[in-house]
Amino acid sequence: MTRPPGEAEAGPPLPAQRGELRVKAPGKVNLYLHVVGRRPDGYHFLDSLVAFVEAGDEIAVGAAEALSLVVEGPYAGALEADDDNLVFRAARLLGAEFEVSQGAAITLTKNLPVAAGLGGGSSDAAATLGALASLWGIDADEAVIMRLAAELGADVPVCRLGATAHMSGIGEVLAPAPALPPCGVVLVNPGKPLSTPTVFRGRHGPFSATEPVTGKMKSVEELVRELQRRRNDLTASACDQLPEIRNVLKALEDDPACLLARLSGSGPTCFGIYADVAPSRQAANRIARAHASWWVQPTWFIESCR
Ligand code: C5P
Repeated sequence: MTRPPGEAEAGPPLPAQRGELRVKAPGKVNLYLHVVGRRPDGYHFLDSLVAFVEAGDEIAVGAAEALSLVVEGPYAGALEADDDNLVFRAARLLGAEFEVSQGAAITLTKNLPVAAGLGGGSSDAAATLGALASLWGIDADEAVIMRLAAELGADVPVCRLGATAHMSGIGEVLAPAPALPPCGVVLVNPGKPLSTPTVFRGRHGPFSATEPVTGKMKSVEELVRELQRRRNDLTASACDQLPEIRNVLKALEDDPACLLARLSGSGPTCFGIYADVAPSRQAANRIARAHASWWVQPTWFIESCR
């Protein structure tokens, strides 16, 4: 476990006030992301080491006759609580699969920026599946929940798993990954959304090899060494779409305590790896002071949110 002492860990659904169930929807970081092929339908085959951070959204569900969704939190304004919302789609899909006649009052607390490369929407959908399965008393086979997760989006299965994993296929093939060593993380987002399909479409060049990390990484230096041998293959395309990403990467790379800086997913959020949580907090302060319009969040990797 890489959380600092005294900090609460994400965990299973907890009974909350007002008879609600609350679950965390942690942010997802692609520590590396190789694009290894392309399907005829345009989806890409990936090889990625995925980890989850303590920073994230939250889903609360309460008993109700009809389905409803309220979005609150710092990024609520960036999201429509309409029928297309991934949280709503997850709720409807689960309800239809298990012929649920009840509704639910769902509250999404949106702390993560939207369309950010942090899997926020996917993590919200995965958390909704879990919270509503508890609320509705569904004792489902995990394989069924994973099938529903894959129907909702390529990143939803790994978010349902909620633990460090190797991801392949288009995102639905998950394999255990070595535990990460303790370290600090800084997430930096330039404050503009980026469309995932556009970034995938703009990727050029040969496909990469599949190169999963096999050995245990005992120190942050070993983690950084393993990551330096790998890349995020969407970086050039994401920077073409949003050149400010180059400034974000440079700010992290120029930071004296940053050990590695990289784009997460299709961006535009980038992450920096730090030796510990304390230097990552100091770095976040430095970067936020210099770039007032950026979202800068110090955090750390969690082992699992389930
Ligand atoms: O599955 P999801 O809706 O999250 O994917 C969003 C888009 O990202 C897809 O429509 C596709 O353009 C792109 N994508 C891809 N290959 C993946 C995952 C996503 O090309 N493995």
